[in-house]
Amino acid sequence: MKKIIIITGAGKGIGRAIALDFSRAAIEKSGFEPILILVSRTASDLESVATECRANGAVAELFTIDIADKSQTDRLVETTLKRYGTIDCLINNAGVGRFKPLDELHEEDFDYTISTNLKGTFFLTQKVFAAMEKNRSGHIFFITSIAAETAFKSSAIYCMSKFGQKGLIETLRLYARECNVRITNIMPGAVYTPMWGELPEEMKSVMMRPEEISSALLNAYFLPGRTSVEELVIRPVGGDIND
Ligand SMILES: NC(=O)c1ccc[n+]([C@@H]2O[C@H](COP(=O)([O-])OP(=O)(O)OC[C@H]3O[C@@H](n4cnc5c(N)ncnc54)[C@H](OP(=O)(O)O)[C@@H]3O)[C@@H](O)[C@H]2O)c1
Repeated sequence: MKKIIIITGAGKGIGRAIALDFSRAAIEKSGFEPILILVSRTASDLESVATECRANGAVAELFTIDIADKSQTDRLVETTLKRYGTIDCLINNAGVGRFKPLDELHEEDFDYTISTNLKGTFFLTQKVFAAMEKNRSGHIFFITSIAAETAFKSSAIYCMSKFGQKGLIETLRLYARECNVRITNIMPGAVYTPMWGELPEEMKSVMMRPEEISSALLNAYFLPGRTSVEELVIRPVGGDIND
């Protein structure tokens, strides 16, 4: 069965791993035919992920957009609905962070982080949810963070944005429970991805890998539709590694 799946931030890190895992499921699960709509700001990243997904037998389409721009996310949803008539799954994964002490965070850091993590995530979700509500079917994932409920000193704006995403998730779930839509909040601890830049070997060795987050997401997605994994907290075995 064809499933239309939008993945934001699909060009790198966790989003890339999710796209590749869904494409592999096209081989492993008979009758599952994913149509992956891959979203990020960098076309070359998306092209390389799409090539790998297609090699696994999935259909992959690219949307090179900035989710912070509502007119671009509106176009993404309208084009997808026009082409396929439905959206089965939205994975709100695109996110950014500026990690600095409180007194070194500036207006530009605030606008950059909030416009993607909160504004972008909100308006894309609002529009996709309206279609799912009408169809009385769908699944929306959010890759928030443990920073959605735990404070870290160098993450004031990032924590604000992730606590804010959790506020959206909990409000949205009040609507979603009334129309058979599943909402899953995945809260990972430290995952080794390009978001972190260069890291010392001893830090890398204790961090999780993107595939470990995507594997948990796919398990939640493939549960029977009557069952909703509402929250998942996934940490390195030794706990949090930053402060
Ligand atoms: N890595 C961790 O330790 C960790 C832990 C907990 C939660 N998370 C969360 O997991 C999510 C993915 O993180 P990651 O570590 O995989 O990050 P990453 O490696 O930096 O990848 C982020 C992806 O999001 C895209 N993106 C960012 N801003 C965007 C925008 N405005 N519009 C469209 N695409 C955008 C990026 O592509 P472009 O820059 O090309 O647009 C990239 O493809 C984030 O929400 C992050 O907060 C990460």
